[in-house]
Amino acid sequence: MKKCPVSEYCGGCQYQGITYQKQLEMKQNYADRLLSGFHAVEKIIPCKESEHYRNKIQISFGYDEQRRIICGYYAPNSHFIVPIQECMIADEKINQLIKSLKRIIIKNHISIYDERSRKGCLRHILIRTSNLNESMVVFVTGSRTLQKQDILVRETLRYNPEVKTIVHNINEVPVSKVLGKKEYVLYGKGYITDVLNGLSFRISAASFYQVNTYQTEVLYAKAIELAGLTDKDTLIDAYCGTGTIGLFASSSVKKVMGVEVNASALKDARTNCRINGINNAEFILDDAGKYMESLAENKVHIDAVIMDPPRSGSDTRFMSSMVKLSPERIVYVSCNPETLKRDLQYLKRYYRIEKIQPVDMFPYTKHIETIVCLKNRGVRA
Ligand SMILES: C[S@@+](CC[C@H](N)C(=O)[O-])C[C@H]1O[C@@H](n2cnc3c(N)ncnc32)[C@H](O)[C@@H]1O
Repeated sequence: MKKCPVSEYCGGCQYQGITYQKQLEMKQNYADRLLSGFHAVEKIIPCKESEHYRNKIQISFGYDEQRRIICGYYAPNSHFIVPIQECMIADEKINQLIKSLKRIIIKNHISIYDERSRKGCLRHILIRTSNLNESMVVFVTGSRTLQKQDILVRETLRYNPEVKTIVHNINEVPVSKVLGKKEYVLYGKGYITDVLNGLSFRISAASFYQVNTYQTEVLYAKAIELAGLTDKDTLIDAYCGTGTIGLFASSSVKKVMGVEVNASALKDARTNCRINGINNAEFILDDAGKYMESLAENKVHIDAVIMDPPRSGSDTRFMSSMVKLSPERIVYVSCNPETLKRDLQYLKRYYRIEKIQPVDMFPYTKHIETIVCLKNRGVRA
């Protein structure tokens, strides 16, 4: 097993130099330690591809001491750039794009944004790829203009024909978040398309989309299996992103209602619904807690909820409304076992925890995805 040359500084992969088998054991132990108090934890589902699985990366630009342009990932808890030539967990097409884009930036003397003086142009580049061999390049600038925009677009396309869309994103604020609020499509349609389980998904620059496409199919199939859905069910897909889980599940239920707070992801969810010819799903732009509260106030009947909140987990507004709605089954998909533990602590009074299934979506990193299946105890909230 080769080791990434910058693994000591980069911090992106905490489990470099450890065999994949050992990584799985470490994740299993961690999940057991945190969650076995609720129910026995199933054996973690491994990932078939442990390298080059990421379909999205964000690289930052800076200068080295000789004022040469460098690009790479930030070292942990800093804005110090660890230069990379390639990334062991990124899709190979992304690695080729990193090299090509860096050459184009240097050749055209594009200035690099300086966070202290707030001068210069290029801050980051975000790259996404899809399993239809489409790529997206997002140039993120610290000022409003992208220098030599036409040349950058032309050369990116000339050397990388798989690039189907190029976006200019403006982020003038001195924060760690990569993308700013304003974006302009410079080439193509502003999205690329990925295919999961025979369904097409359009993904825009700012939308959340699972980074490990292969394992996403495994994750969703397991979550839907555990939800035990029937064609009489009304299902809530909470924190639905681009609508992937709900659309996956739509053929097993009567109706799907997805809720998502990010407008760009929600727009993608509605489009994904339409292009896949699905007519029993609707997607609502709202805070998930606020939406659940309004459903509970209107005493809407819900059979099942699949919830997939961000790392911070859910909130009591969401969970207290969910227990009032009292669906028969809840499937909680979590990317953070700590917040999952906190939220299960709340839910366990009303719901019996029937299965805890960890899934490895992120080999070489410490991150674990966990699916928890909960059944209604019949306790009134
Ligand atoms: C872990 S992602 C899951 C997305 C989707 N289920 C998937 O698998 O692609 C969490 C999603 O929750 C959304 N989100 C975060 N806070 C939210 C809130 N308060 N209400 C609704 N959606 C929220 C994020 O924008 C993101 O799309």
